[in-house]
Amino acid sequence: MFRLDNYIAIVTGASRGIGQGIVENLAEAGAHVVCVSRSFEAVKSVASELKSKGFKASFAACDIADFKAAADLVQSIVKDLGKIDILVNNAGITRDTLLMRMSEEDWDTVINTNLKGAFNTTKAVTRPMMRQRHGRIINISSVVGLTGNAGQTNYAASKAGLIGFTKATARELASRGITVNCIAPGFIETDMTAGLKPEIKEAMIAQIPLRRIGNSKDIATMVQFLASDAAGYITGQTYAVDGGMTM
Ligand code: NAI
Repeated sequence: MFRLDNYIAIVTGASRGIGQGIVENLAEAGAHVVCVSRSFEAVKSVASELKSKGFKASFAACDIADFKAAADLVQSIVKDLGKIDILVNNAGITRDTLLMRMSEEDWDTVINTNLKGAFNTTKAVTRPMMRQRHGRIINISSVVGLTGNAGQTNYAASKAGLIGFTKATARELASRGITVNCIAPGFIETDMTAGLKPEIKEAMIAQIPLRRIGNSKDIATMVQFLASDAAGYITGQTYAVDGGMTM
């Protein structure tokens, strides 16, 4: 279902967690996935594992918060592979603390990675996607961008910003056959949530109508659908994939 044969997909933050789940799904669906993260070794090993299973994959280390590095990355992918069909802006970080204690650096680092990073990569893919009159851009936001969360003013602002960015970009690019959508995951089992104390996890599960923490496959399946031809009439939307938490 939702085949992606002959499509080239870039996924940021692909070295682990949700991003790794996304590249596995897209590769299984037939896409050539370019796995991107800051860590060369980690992203190389994700791409090698995919290739050992017979899938099409390559990798690149890049700090997406760096405007020029993101532009150079996209340019080199287009040069090597000829085009870009799918961009998944998944890389994201947290620097949690109450607003009263938050440093300027905590604020800037999170906004620069989560929000400016998506601007950097999206701007870079826009021209090649416009030329081919086809493209799929999928931004990974968070339920925290919809509801807010104490201790995460920087993160919530970056994730709410991504929702607005999605809508404005969707309006600008719709006439060129490019769709731009957003996914707002709830609590997902990854390194980002692994460090939580068991009692905190229990309290989280109590808030989820489907009574379980999500996994990267739950998000990857939605990405695969939005990346596919089947989702061609959907743009500018944000989908909460959160076990019903924000219904
Ligand atoms: P993670 O911490 O396990 O992985 C983050 C990935 O992003 C890593 O590959 C890391 O190398 C990469 N990355 C970070 N900064 C980067 C930069 N400047 N340039 C390039 N790559 C960079 O995170 P996880 O949990 O897999 O989250 C993935 C996305 O999903 C993030 O945007 C996160 O905010 C979002 N999310 C996660 C939730 C969760 O419960 N885990 C819930 C809601 C949203």
